[in-house]
Amino acid sequence: MNLTDKINKDNLPKHLAIIMDGNGRWAKQKGLMRAFGHENGTKSVRITVETCAKLGIENLTLYAFSTENWNRPKLEVDTLMRLLISSLKKELDTLQKNNIRLNCIGNITMLPDSAKKELLAVMEKTKNNTRMTLTLALSYGSREELLNAVKTICDKVKNNIISIDALDESIINQHLYTHNLPDVDLVIRTSGEHRISNFLLWQIAYAEFYFTDVLWPDFKEDDLYEAIISYQKRERRFGKTSEQIK
Ligand code: FPP
Repeated sequence: MNLTDKINKDNLPKHLAIIMDGNGRWAKQKGLMRAFGHENGTKSVRITVETCAKLGIENLTLYAFSTENWNRPKLEVDTLMRLLISSLKKELDTLQKNNIRLNCIGNITMLPDSAKKELLAVMEKTKNNTRMTLTLALSYGSREELLNAVKTICDKVKNNIISIDALDESIINQHLYTHNLPDVDLVIRTSGEHRISNFLLWQIAYAEFYFTDVLWPDFKEDDLYEAIISYQKRERRFGKTSEQIK
């Protein structure tokens, strides 16, 4: 019996979010430059995207570049931007073939013009695809996202567009980059780190977590299946008792 047979297609996470970590360590272990780790990381991105689409996961969000990542050496930032552009160019066909819509979250005004242009072009070309939404978190920070939402909402309150009494969780949701996405069901983080690193803090309120020691460039189909099998064994109670949800 292979691992896919153990997956219940009726209980897939509707929204899977992945913190792809360990590219640098993967390269170091092999005596290579960090750039090779990122380059090989793009292969795991492709495998993960295709496998999620095949399984029927409707939303996949990948933490590709955080607001904090701008503080890395310029050479590494340039490498990551170059890989982003080349992957977008290379993978457009795969996205179209698999009926995948590309979406992004984050402050993309910070991206170099060439990356922004490519990203927006692929988003436009894939906007009518319906099988899966692939969201890239780029120049993304959850605190910045929440701060911007607070500012916009305050402004609307000040201008009598929203009343304080009407404020609720759905209004906050509507002001986040993720307004079109469901809450996250499962977060995977690779490389043995057990941190959230400013990723989707609001959206993971009831998410399940799966941590693996596998470094991102080594993360392949079976690692994804293991994560989903583990998720499907969990009892998600959303604050209720076990008896209530049976
Ligand atoms: C973390 O590894 C990974 C990143 C900061 C970037 C993730 C980027 C990719 C997988 C490639 C490009 C992505 C796309 C979507 C085309 P790390 O460098 O923090 O690893 P370390 O902790 O071992 O140093």
